[in-house]
Amino acid sequence: MISGAQCDDIYNIEYYLTEDNFADQTQLAYKILFGEDPDPIVFTGHKFFLTKNVHPLFGRVDLMEKGLHIFRMIFARHAHDLRGSGIEEYNRDGVMVIENFLDDSTSKKIKDFILSYPICENIQPFNKIKEVMSKEYDQKLFYNVFKEKIFPVCAEAVRRVDYEDAAWDHFLHTSYVQRLQNNPSNGDIQKVCHSDVFYPCLKYWYFPEDVNEGAFMYAKGSTTLSTEQLDFYLRESIAVTNGTWDTRRNKGHSEGSFRALPDDLASMNLKLEPIVAKANSLVVADTSGFHCRGDVTAPTTRNAVHGAIRVEAPFETENNV
Ligand SMILES: [Fe+2]
Repeated sequence: MISGAQCDDIYNIEYYLTEDNFADQTQLAYKILFGEDPDPIVFTGHKFFLTKNVHPLFGRVDLMEKGLHIFRMIFARHAHDLRGSGIEEYNRDGVMVIENFLDDSTSKKIKDFILSYPICENIQPFNKIKEVMSKEYDQKLFYNVFKEKIFPVCAEAVRRVDYEDAAWDHFLHTSYVQRLQNNPSNGDIQKVCHSDVFYPCLKYWYFPEDVNEGAFMYAKGSTTLSTEQLDFYLRESIAVTNGTWDTRRNKGHSEGSFRALPDDLASMNLKLEPIVAKANSLVVADTSGFHCRGDVTAPTTRNAVHGAIRVEAPFETENNV
């Protein structure tokens, strides 16, 4: 337990954080809270708890009980706030749908392009946008759609605005044609509500067709850390570390992509809702918030180009890394 004076110190550190003092002050906050110097891995994107080779720091119950996980969540958000102001709707809800995203002619070309691919849920060499952009198709079209249209929205939302940087690199390496075959109650692990990582990150989908059944499910507001959410993450980070976690939550939970069961969501005053989209919409979501793949009542194919910006420097206050 920390004292009232220590609490005041942490409050002051958080209040007076700037781009310039962030690195030093977060180290100081860590020392006050945990009574030791931080291992450098604290201030990275390393998310793993239980894996084959768990880093010793993330196996320490004493640190988790003092709030190591929520400390990282909170200070990563401070860095995020120092990088820029983002987009209001996305900041508030954690998800945003932009309709009529491309002009009609471009939208038709991208739809034809997507539908020319076979069904494939995951990124493969053959469906990667980076590969496509480097050799075939209309280069100007791809430059226009990905670099000038989709990327700027994503970079602004996740507050990584410079173009020739790690954010663009990650965006390009993760973008691909996703044709998802969704069958009812197929036990898909992606249908269990979860948070991907402890820090703000982004996934996008451009949908050439209407999406109703099987739409992405999102708990709006789940990127704002309420006391109830901090309680959940504190409790579960301790449970994973001391081995008392409920294994129904599945392996992803123990690795640091925490699963929220319906009761957990209710206790956090959160509710999953389908993010339906009309044809020619861009959906962007902060997948550190709670989300999952929607179920269907009949086999459905959902077509998209899909990608992410998840730069593994969550404690960096410069926006070009
Ligand atoms: Fe996810």
